[in-house]
Amino acid sequence: MFVHFHATMKAAKTIPSVLKYFLIISVYLLLFVSLQNRRSKTLLSATTNHTSSSSSSAVDSSDDLKIRHGYTNYDAYIQRQLNKTLNPKLRKIWTTRDWDRKIKVFSRFFDELKRENLLSNSSKSLSIGARVGQEVEALKRVGVTDAIGIDLVPFPPLVVKGDFHNQPFHNDTFDFEFSNVFDHALYPKKFVAEIERTLKPDGVCILHVALSRRGDKYSANDLYSIKPLSKLFRRSELVRVRKVDGFGLDTEVVFRKKETIQRS
Ligand SMILES: *[C@@H]1O[C@H](CO)[C@@H](O)[C@H](O)[C@H]1NC(C)=O
Ligand SMILES: *[C@@H]1O[C@H](CO)[C@@H](O)[C@H](O)[C@H]1NC(C)=O
Ligand SMILES: *[C@@H]1O[C@H](CO)[C@@H](O)[C@H](O)[C@H]1NC(C)=O
Ligand SMILES: *[C@@H]1O[C@H](CO)[C@@H](O)[C@H](O)[C@H]1NC(C)=O
Repeated sequence: MFVHFHATMKAAKTIPSVLKYFLIISVYLLLFVSLQNRRSKTLLSATTNHTSSSSSSAVDSSDDLKIRHGYTNYDAYIQRQLNKTLNPKLRKIWTTRDWDRKIKVFSRFFDELKRENLLSNSSKSLSIGARVGQEVEALKRVGVTDAIGIDLVPFPPLVVKGDFHNQPFHNDTFDFEFSNVFDHALYPKKFVAEIERTLKPDGVCILHVALSRRGDKYSANDLYSIKPLSKLFRRSELVRVRKVDGFGLDTEVVFRKKETIQRS
């Protein structure tokens, strides 16, 4: 700002004094208008979504769970997520080259969970952030017939439209919920609270997360240990943690919702 003013003064030396004052006043006016403009824009984006600004992401941040900067509000975040989900090239790959390969790997994960009695053919199941629904198809193939997915963009009949920050289901609906998109949650607290709300008591939640590797540019948070997860799952107990090789995600975390609500 000062340099700008200085340069204006220097240039002004060579022109008549009336013009000089006019120029200086113009520069100040311009500065004033542009500052006001920026201020009102900031105010506008801060008030667009009261829910998101009040449940500010900073609240969820801890040493081992960092919310990424760069999402000015919830709408900007949704736009960015949609950008990846709607990318025609990616969608083509997901439904062709990736389809069988991913279903095979997911089926192995789910078979293993069945052997451990964490999942059964009769489990009413949800896959959160399922995109085109490979996980849902895998659940059905291993015998879990009552399975559905949610994503911002539906992919019928396997995936219905739904935001994991606000699941379109009643309380106590599912026996089993799976997700490998925890890193996409802008509000991890809401992501987990919604899982615990829609899980039946004794229901099981499986998360595949990355602990030793960073997510992609669409990630909204970075997780460095499972400690923050255990904290967020307030109504559940941690059943187990194991290493997996799941499309860049290295850790499988299992929670079970407690039978009775603990009052604190
Ligand atoms: C505001 O953000 C919340 C998530 O915290 C979301 O559920 C809600 O739909 C958003 N509202 C609008 C108008 O974008
Ligand atoms: C998505 O992002 C790319 C660049 O990263 C941009 O060129 C494109 O217009 C965006 N598409 C949508 C639908 O926002
Ligand atoms: C579960 O479903 C699969 C696939 O249909 C079937 O092979 C298996 O026998 C069923 N398991 C039980 C315990 O019914
Ligand atoms: C659903 O669960 C939430 C908390 O998990 C609770 O606040 C709400 O009152 C419940 N709604 C109904 C209809 O029971």
